[in-house]
Parts: sequence; C-alpha cells; structure tokens
Amino acid sequence: TYIIAEPCLDVLDKACIEECPVDCIYEGNRMLYIHPDECVDCGACEPVCPVEAIFYEDDVPEQWKDYTNANYEFFEDLGSPGGASKVGKIDKDATFVGAQPPRGD
Ligand code: F3S
Ligand code: F3S
Repeated sequence: TYIIAEPCLDVLDKACIEECPVDCIYEGNRMLYIHPDECVDCGACEPVCPVEAIFYEDDVPEQWKDYTNANYEFFEDLGSPGGASKVGKIDKDATFVGAQPPRGD
C-alpha cells in the first residue's frame, strides 16, 4: 500500500483523490488516509501531491513512520467501504494524527 504522511496534515490538497483509479483515499478531519487493503499500488497519487506527502509503504521516511500506523488504524472500525466518494468526509482522525499540534501558516 501507499501511505499518506505528515505533509498532508492540515493541508488536504486532495489532488491525490482525482488520480486514484480505485477511489481508496479517504478524508478525515485533518488529513487523508489511504485504505491499505483497497489500494492497488498503482502509484498514480504519489507524484501529484504538491507537498509530497505520499510514499510507498516501504519508503516512508523514518520520522514519519507513525503515519504508516495511522493509515492502518483509521480503517480499523470502518472495515472496507469499497469507495471513498460514497462515504464522504469521515469525522475523525487516527489517534496519533488527532494529537498533533495544529499546522499551517
Ligand atoms: Fe494530502 Fe497531498 Fe492528497 S496534501 S490530500 S496527500 S494531494
Ligand atoms: Fe490509489 Fe495511490 Fe493506491 S492512486 S491505488 S492510493 S497508490
């Protein structure tokens, strides 16, 4: 799977959503999350993120490893909805993400 990391936090550009052929990028309150079971590793989302927040799972920079767990945790109680557009914005974040101080300029 691919993982969305810290640069997305409080940015939520959403350019990635347009690229994903399987609609597996879900919106939380403070960032977006890639569904680890629904992502087919096509990689189309990665180059379009303007803040370079998206990484192949094995390539997530060391300082952002907690975001790997966050992408998994986000879906623990959601199961596999099978499409982000029909679900819409989800009013929560992974625990680690929700605990981060506000970002933004
Ligand atoms: Fe976030 Fe980048 Fe997508 S900022 S919403 S991962 S385009
Ligand atoms: Fe979609 Fe990106 Fe995975 S475009 S299929 S989330 S690699």
